[in-house]
Amino acid sequence: MKKRLLGFLCQWCGARALEHLSYQRRPLPAGFYPIRVPCSGSVAPEVITQALASGASGVLVVGCPPGQCHFREGNQRCAIRMRFLKGWLKALGVSGERIRLALVGAGEGEKLYQIVWDFWEDLGEDRPL
Ligand code: FES
Repeated sequence: MKKRLLGFLCQWCGARALEHLSYQRRPLPAGFYPIRVPCSGSVAPEVITQALASGASGVLVVGCPPGQCHFREGNQRCAIRMRFLKGWLKALGVSGERIRLALVGAGEGEKLYQIVWDFWEDLGEDRPL
């Protein structure tokens, strides 16, 4: 199965950082599929597990930096959920390394670029669930 990295990017930060990268024509992995979401806190754990079950090699959630969430604590709630989800995946025998949360500011395109490529490389070769 082809390696795929699904990204849920908060519209206020990650999605804007991604726009900066596209203006600069910075290449991201061909298997990276970004999806704009209202807030990292809006990404339900079942959406992430469904993505993995459907063949995503990894799922990246990008939220606003601490104190900058437009919904006050969406990024904090997301961080708690991701920690819980990692443990749950581990209990099921699935590596928790297949999901990752990153907090990136709207103007931090370079940071997002590095996060996506690092995650992509850490995923290694194709891994079926
Ligand atoms: Fe960006 Fe909540 S609005 S993480």
